[in-house]
Amino acid sequence: MRRFLPGEMLARPDHLIMMSVGKMRAIRAEQELTGTIVPLDEEHLRARLHNIYTGELQAMEAAGRTLFDFPDAPWEFQLDMARQVWDESRHTEIFERLLAYLGAAPGDYVETDLLWRCTLTDDPAERVAGINRGLEGLACDTFEQLIRIAQHNGDVIVERAVDYVLADEITHVRMGSRWMRQLTAGDTERLKRAQAFQDGVDEELNFRGRRRAREDLVHDDGRLLAIARESRLLAGFTEEEIRRLAESARRSAAY
Ligand SMILES: [Fe+2]
Ligand SMILES: [Fe+2]
Repeated sequence: MRRFLPGEMLARPDHLIMMSVGKMRAIRAEQELTGTIVPLDEEHLRARLHNIYTGELQAMEAAGRTLFDFPDAPWEFQLDMARQVWDESRHTEIFERLLAYLGAAPGDYVETDLLWRCTLTDDPAERVAGINRGLEGLACDTFEQLIRIAQHNGDVIVERAVDYVLADEITHVRMGSRWMRQLTAGDTERLKRAQAFQDGVDEELNFRGRRRAREDLVHDDGRLLAIARESRLLAGFTEEEIRRLAESARRSAAY
């Protein structure tokens, strides 16, 4: 089987449209859709949940690919990836049902290959640094914000469902922290490469300043994403790593 599948090769039913994130951004810019939408708006929430639904699908596929791509990795690593496939498949079902709850369905919005592109490395330490720590760290930021939005809206169903998924995501980030360090033990150059791969993913995910450290959100009107400090500490991030992430978010904001 071939390695490093491009996003458009992921199996999808015909009604799901996959597009490269670059093309999606170009179309949005062309239509002058550059402003930030108020996240409390219901249509925004539907689009956001659809993004997360497709992100969960790709997270399931990415963990499965990591299992397949690195047959010589430690058995416990493979077990963690297999467990993650199961968790992510459950998350896709949860978000599919949340979409139905809000009157939407898979295929109502375009899917981008943003998450999948972060799988494109042939070192398992880089793979877990980028996916488990970079992308799933973002999932923690996003889910904490969604929980706050649901609390604001008085929506207990969304609040509890997302909270259950967040608990799993913290364990996935923790797996990434463990394996990034364990696979690179005694090889500082390899550890640096894994961290650099994650930094690249984090910079891409800062969305040109739409994610910030909580202390940088002076006038928090809910539009910006805050770095989920508590969840990240629980998931094995160090204070120094959180500080670096906050600085990277500041640099993106200045971009
Ligand atoms: Fe997930
Ligand atoms: Fe996950």
